[in-house]
Amino acid sequence: MRQNLVAGNWKMNLTYPEGLALVEEITRLAGDAGATGPEIVVCPPFPLLHGVGQALPQGGRFHLGAQNCHQKESGAFTGEVSAKVLASVGCEYVILGHSERRQYFGEDDELLSQKLKAALVAGLKPIFCVGESLDTREADETFAFISKQLTDGLFHLSNEEFEQVTIAYEPIWAIGTGRTASSAQAQEVHAFIREQIARAYDAQAALNTTILYGGSANAQNARELFSQPDVDGGLIGGASLKAVDFATIIQSF
Ligand code: 13P
Repeated sequence: MRQNLVAGNWKMNLTYPEGLALVEEITRLAGDAGATGPEIVVCPPFPLLHGVGQALPQGGRFHLGAQNCHQKESGAFTGEVSAKVLASVGCEYVILGHSERRQYFGEDDELLSQKLKAALVAGLKPIFCVGESLDTREADETFAFISKQLTDGLFHLSNEEFEQVTIAYEPIWAIGTGRTASSAQAQEVHAFIREQIARAYDAQAALNTTILYGGSANAQNARELFSQPDVDGGLIGGASLKAVDFATIIQSF
């Protein structure tokens, strides 16, 4: 059966000392590596990855994730970081297709398909993000939009590759806005995503896939969101930068 998971996407926040202080506090508050609960992934900026990874309790439910990777294994791509390099510094996960990457860095489904392959070849587990804008929601096109993102970006993977993937539903209108999706809105889209997986793969794959919610999830609303049958955890932005809030979210199942 699928795993519950809480991932903290630090985005372009925190210096190295601040990141170390945060994980130390999260570890203290959320229990050691042997404690039961969801899988926990922290996704700091690239330069912090190795040190933060070393500071996490080893061998348990804490994992390291990156926020992006390049689609090529190596080469003359100044300023870029490959999945292979990420794996070599201890990353197990990588966020791909975040709406901020799509919007500000022009990442489209074709590019994301290549990044997914690169991540999988390097042994990383992708956290693949989908989510609609406010215009799309108001035009009643949410399901068609999400379906297209899944079909064009993700469902080209083989069954075996797809087993490595976690999906995050992040409605753009809820990201960083304080306007979270209601638990019913989240559940409706999560159930739809699970249906699409069953169509593209099979019922077992649909049951096994962890689907996270992201978008102004916080210590107050996490329990309600996570109580929905198809919401298996969260991809947390702002609230992952505060140890007490992130620890509370981890304990919200
Ligand atoms: P916020 O939790 O800050 O809304 O960000 C969500 C997000 O984009 C996580 O990837």
